[in-house]
Amino acid sequence: MSEIWSKLSEHRRRTSDTSIAELFERDQNRFQTFSAQADGLLLDFSKTALDETGLNALVDLAEQAGLASKIEAMFRGDPINVTEGRAALHTALRSQNDTAVMVDGQDVMPEIQQTLQRMESFAGALRSGAYKTVTGAQFTDVVNIGIGGSDLGPVMATRALAPYHDGPRCHYVSNVDGADITDSLAGLDPQTTLIIIASKSFTTIETMTNAATAISWLRAALGDQASGHLAAVSTALDKTAEMGIPPERVFGFADWVGGRYSLWGPVGLPILIAVGRDNFRAMLSGAAAMDRHFQTADFRHNLPVLLGLVGIWHSNICGYNTRAILPYEQRLARLPAYLQQLDMESNGKSVTLEGSPVRRTTGPIVWGEPGTNGQHAFYQLLHQGTHVVPAEFLIAAEGHEAELSHQHDLLKANCLAQSEALMLGRSAQQARALAQSRGIPEGDLDRMTAHLTFPGNRPSITLAYPRLTPFALGQIIALYEHRVFTEGVIWGINSFDQWGVELGKELALGLLPLIQGATDSSKDGSTLGLVAKLTASTPAT
Ligand code: F6P
Repeated sequence: MSEIWSKLSEHRRRTSDTSIAELFERDQNRFQTFSAQADGLLLDFSKTALDETGLNALVDLAEQAGLASKIEAMFRGDPINVTEGRAALHTALRSQNDTAVMVDGQDVMPEIQQTLQRMESFAGALRSGAYKTVTGAQFTDVVNIGIGGSDLGPVMATRALAPYHDGPRCHYVSNVDGADITDSLAGLDPQTTLIIIASKSFTTIETMTNAATAISWLRAALGDQASGHLAAVSTALDKTAEMGIPPERVFGFADWVGGRYSLWGPVGLPILIAVGRDNFRAMLSGAAAMDRHFQTADFRHNLPVLLGLVGIWHSNICGYNTRAILPYEQRLARLPAYLQQLDMESNGKSVTLEGSPVRRTTGPIVWGEPGTNGQHAFYQLLHQGTHVVPAEFLIAAEGHEAELSHQHDLLKANCLAQSEALMLGRSAQQARALAQSRGIPEGDLDRMTAHLTFPGNRPSITLAYPRLTPFALGQIIALYEHRVFTEGVIWGINSFDQWGVELGKELALGLLPLIQGATDSSKDGSTLGLVAKLTASTPAT
């Protein structure tokens, strides 16, 4: 593989003077060659500096990394999460066929199907009013308490699917900051609210603390009947029982579903309650369609593989260490945060599967905001800053608001304008002409020309889909999951563990006594100084 890495770096050195715009001038079919489609979803990566030679070398890299066999191993249920000795089988949760998926010699599909049906009948009963509150009324609100993968997926998807939301209102509490649960419960009636406690481990301190607060809130109104307003989602059924949650409202899943890959199963319960069985199943179908595509399409036409290869090109070959997720879709407002966890928790690693240091930079910094809002906030840096940030645009051909199609036209025009501006920039000559047209005095022309010039040649990709339906949402999420996997395979890292979150959790538990008055002189001066400041009883002004 090191030969291909060198070839890619050398190729970049030789071609970096050729701008993306020039690549379009040289090849009339560039868009066709450097784009791919699957089930209505288009990935355009023609506005990058990749050319045939570069793309071929990247495909070779994926082949040499054994990506094809690693994809098979993942879908087959091999224990590819080697540091935890587990499979990574989120794909089984959305599988649309009866093929057995074996884990430790057992087909896991029957249990997945059974749990999905239990979720559907509970959600259905809640939506129809057949499952009643302790006073016999209909539930109006659902509060999901969870964090990380037990929060971000459901929040993101519920918001994305707002046009399909015809079930009870859904609210999400994640932060241990008491403000979160206080503000979320304010205005809700415990008499008509269901609380879902979602935690894979059922030990996460934030979720357990918020759950205790929510249970007290229910008990204050419902007394001993509070458990009728509780449901749980977890792999730890012993712990949900200890909390007194009746087993018929506990939805279990196996430890081979990673937290950040878990919205397809029980963690997706709030989505199912919000949008109903058919829409939830359509989201699963969209993901399953992407799974089939990932397994069967050749790498040159395989969206997740191509997206991963473009990622490798930008981070390892061009040296860009961040990627911006820019959905031109307000309902995807939480997608950047969702992908931030998916990508950074999966690929923020610096040792290989074998435990040796990785030789290249791994997962980039992922961030973003919806357009057009971002345009009026941070795009200045994207266009004229000193960092090059590969931008990832998402845009639908049509919105859900037929009567506001003129607004959607404006949204599309803005999205395309941004990728065009990033690529073309504005030359010094054009900037000078503009300055002159604005009546800038001759003596100021040089200075203003510099300010009005855009370097351009900044890469972006665009994902375009017909409409943000449940199916399209499923496709998009699965596309990004498999992109993360593709990159992880090429870097030789484990994308399915997250040891890096442990230390802070341990230290927080150790610091709590200090915050509550104990002393420990072994701590560093900064920590002790901050403890003193944060525990001083000076009244707020
Ligand atoms: O702290 C990180 C993490 O373990 C994530 O991987 C996970 O999604 C989140 O915490 C929540 O974990 P749980 O679902 O077990 O409460």
